[in-house]
Amino acid sequence: MTIASVDRTIRLIKTGAAAGSTCSPDLAAGPWEFDSGTPGYGPGSSMGDVLPTGSPRQGALPERYRLATTEELGERIRAAKETLGDRVVVLGHFYQRDEVLQHADFVGDSFQLAQATKSRPDAEAIIFCGVHFMAETADLLSTPDQAVILPNLAAGCSMADMADIDSVTDCWEQLEDLYGTEPDADGRVPVIPVTYMNSSAALKAFCGEHGGIVCTSSNAETVLEWAFARGRRVLFFPDQHLGRNTAKAMGIPLEHMPMWNPRKPLGGSTADELGDAEVILWHGFCSVHKRFTVDQITAARLEHPDVRVIVHPECPMAVVDAADEYGSTDYIKKAIEAAPAGSTFAIGTEINLVQRLAAEHPEHTIFCLDPVICPCSTMYRIHSGYLAWVLEALVGTAEQPAEVVNRITVDQKVAGHARVALERMLAARPPAALPAGSTSSTGTGA
Ligand code: 13P
Ligand code: SF4
Repeated sequence: MTIASVDRTIRLIKTGAAAGSTCSPDLAAGPWEFDSGTPGYGPGSSMGDVLPTGSPRQGALPERYRLATTEELGERIRAAKETLGDRVVVLGHFYQRDEVLQHADFVGDSFQLAQATKSRPDAEAIIFCGVHFMAETADLLSTPDQAVILPNLAAGCSMADMADIDSVTDCWEQLEDLYGTEPDADGRVPVIPVTYMNSSAALKAFCGEHGGIVCTSSNAETVLEWAFARGRRVLFFPDQHLGRNTAKAMGIPLEHMPMWNPRKPLGGSTADELGDAEVILWHGFCSVHKRFTVDQITAARLEHPDVRVIVHPECPMAVVDAADEYGSTDYIKKAIEAAPAGSTFAIGTEINLVQRLAAEHPEHTIFCLDPVICPCSTMYRIHSGYLAWVLEALVGTAEQPAEVVNRITVDQKVAGHARVALERMLAARPPAALPAGSTSSTGTGA
């Protein structure tokens, strides 16, 4: 794999050896600097958000990992993986830093990684280099004997934390008071809950228990079709932007998509607005993707008149509308792979993926719409020091017996229902009516 280290870029900017800017020069430090201090999302784009109480806390990383160089850690990771062989599988999300991702056996978007989990039932341990909700999903889809390990427990997701089970249950009760619970003449219930993969297992379980389903950015339209076949409207959480962008592409008018802000009575909407609703959008967003703006697209087009602008559907609607195309991380990757040499791309998604795609495709010009280097600060908490630590713990030594550290286990009380919602998603297929070759959850800007 081509190393396109965002970490190195940030260090160079910090020391003045490279031009450019970063949202937080503190990101050049080891994440353990922050894990041991005030608990929070750490420096970077999500810093303003509030970490919920009860979130997992990462303990201190032993000094031998904190003081090691990137090269030493790389050697140790390779050696431990070789010793463990097929007993372990390392999964890595596209947004993961390259020093870690180069050791992954599978690299993909959240949907592909959920599928990859099921493809290796023989592995004793699944090491998930992503964020907490992805590791929980892996635990739900793996066998009971497999241990899912998140190398740094502080690798959460600020968007996932914007919807919690108490607020969603409260919202649901208010919607039941408003709409009742009886199906219509076609057998469709008043509301179907749909949760984005970026949510806790408790919310996935809520969906499983209430006739709902999970979606990812690569299948959101297929999942909404599934939901509308069973319900008159959808409650979509936690990402308002993915919900709005997908529903809009399906032809649902904006005035039929009221917002639900859990801090306001009736979510801040009127009973009439909720009566007309087709999709009720939870007031959540991704701190990384909300940085992208229409002005950045205008500037890219001015500088590169032939530029192709592709953004992730977690971006605000105005940005998706101004782009040429939008789609999941895998869609973006495949669009670049399929383009004729000499193409120019401005990409609106996380910088680790954009910088890697630029390094892997020297035949194209590829740049991030946001000129400020600002990674997903939570996924960035997984450093190669933590990966080396969890792998070497699995190997063990003469003094230290082998052990599983940082295991992610979903509570049995929610696991059954959460699996139902995930399996519904894995089984959902685009409606047969879609023209051949069309891809769900991707589209062209207005
Ligand atoms: P993908 O589903 O496209 O992998 O996105 C996951 C994510 O967290 C985007 O912010
Ligand atoms: Fe969460 Fe945004 Fe990071 Fe994705 S990019 S894991 S939505 S904070």
